[in-house]
Amino acid sequence: VPVAILISGRGSNMAALIAAAEADDCPYRVVLVAANDPAAGGLAIAEAAGIATFALSHKGMPRAAFDALLDAEIRRAGAEWIALAGYMRVLSAEFILGWAGRIVNIHPSLLPLYKGLDTHARAIAAGDAEGGCSVHIVTAELDDGPVVAQARVPILPGDDADTLAARVLPEEHRLYPATLAELVRR
Ligand code: GRF
Repeated sequence: VPVAILISGRGSNMAALIAAAEADDCPYRVVLVAANDPAAGGLAIAEAAGIATFALSHKGMPRAAFDALLDAEIRRAGAEWIALAGYMRVLSAEFILGWAGRIVNIHPSLLPLYKGLDTHARAIAAGDAEGGCSVHIVTAELDDGPVVAQARVPILPGDDADTLAARVLPEEHRLYPATLAELVRR
């Protein structure tokens, strides 16, 4: 099943999705990596893996116009699913509707807790015993769609946002490819 990945930054989750797709029994393949920031570090990783890339800054463009260009590029690549991997831009409702439940995201919290930014700092400040990450279907409401899978890690005494992020990230890299594989098989 052809999948497009959208990124804005370093792309470590993207890299994990690409690496997993190299296995013979992986049911998805990555046909495009698109970024809304031409400086996104993940683009070079995708290129090195031989994957087509598309980079266009959203700056100065109305959201609907930018999303329409992105949508056209993704469809041209033949993708049937979209995986957001650190894509830091809200997608327009029109874009999301056009993909009817076939956009998936990874979020670094145990949703429905801590939608939006600074998830790890907020979990620590709340005194939570656990943090983690969630893979969810993308709906028009930010970080709000149905949760498909989660991974949990302990929050330890002395943790700050960086140490907790470092504990959660490897879980993201494991959970996301496994969950995407499960979703596209359905
Ligand atoms: C990850 O923590 C992901 O959960 C969040 O943004 C971060 C992206 O990191 N949505 P990377 O670009 O995948 O390394």
